[in-house]
Amino acid sequence: MKIAVLPGDGIGPEVTREAVRVLEALGLADLELTYADVGGAAYHRTGHPLPVETLEIARSSDAILFGAVGDPTCDNLERHLRPEQAILGLRKELGLFANLRPAKVFKGLEDASALRPEVAGAIDLLIVRELNGDVYFGEKGIRTLPDGRRQGWDMMSYAEDEVRRIAHVGFKAAQGRRGKLCSVDKANVLETSQLWRDVVCEVAADYPDIELSHMYVDNAAMQLVRSPGQFDVIVTGNLFGDILSDQASMCVGSIGLLASASLSEGTLGLYEPIHGSAPDIAGQGVANPMATVLSAAMLLRHSLGLEAQAARVEAAVAKTLADGVRGADLGGSHGTAQIGDAIVERL
Ligand code: IPM
Ligand code: MG
Repeated sequence: MKIAVLPGDGIGPEVTREAVRVLEALGLADLELTYADVGGAAYHRTGHPLPVETLEIARSSDAILFGAVGDPTCDNLERHLRPEQAILGLRKELGLFANLRPAKVFKGLEDASALRPEVAGAIDLLIVRELNGDVYFGEKGIRTLPDGRRQGWDMMSYAEDEVRRIAHVGFKAAQGRRGKLCSVDKANVLETSQLWRDVVCEVAADYPDIELSHMYVDNAAMQLVRSPGQFDVIVTGNLFGDILSDQASMCVGSIGLLASASLSEGTLGLYEPIHGSAPDIAGQGVANPMATVLSAAMLLRHSLGLEAQAARVEAAVAKTLADGVRGADLGGSHGTAQIGDAIVERL
């Protein structure tokens, strides 16, 4: 079982370290970890945020454990050299098109949510975000119009096969859960969304057991706060999924708790916390590693087929929270390594 570990920038290395400790504590035979540079860390060392060597290590692994990328000292670099290009490049190059972002309130954390406890307590949803298309990967630029004004532009598009394959992921995920799929788009304004909606409806014919609904993204943002308990699986495009998943994290209580899996057509997957590099708290040992530990659990489940071990890790995190261990993100005083210790102890 070959795992590429890409800690990256900011708090990435700190939280990744704890997730690796948890994986090692499981005592799996044949676990082979290979570390590689990515993001700003890679740029500073090699001049590129996604060195060829890193890409090859990732490509030849069974799974990738990813920390975070983002480094304010790189903000003024040309776009193709910025740290974010590393994660976008990995997603595209490795065909990681399906991003699963589960959001569920842990017992005892209802009070941590930005929502009222009785509203937050009902959250158990999965965002399935398309990851290889949309305005993220279209042509873009800043040009000067004939009258001298500058104009920024980004091309948004989805081809039907791109919509179809992510729709299948959404429907299948719903089959393994409560049987409800909500497709989020902006079909009242965007042609890209109209095609998205048409294709999702076509795919629905294969899944008569699933209750399909459609929602405009603005309404979805509102409903996520008003009554998030209504959602089971949400399937949406790259940009809307990016925004809604950050919003869902605060409904759950902390962005420090949300894991994600980015999956390809095969078993190769990349697993990362959704929180990013958080440069403001990097290096202080205060970041909550739980999102990364939960991402490692998803790695065990989706790429290595180790469901029992995945469930063990998730139970250990839930127990750690139930026992009152809280990082600063949840108003507590436990540091990164302390939280890692507590999880390992409960394994
Ligand atoms: C995420 C992040 C990335 C994205 C950034 C770092 C490029 O916000 O994974 O949600 O926009 O997809
Ligand atoms: Mg994001």
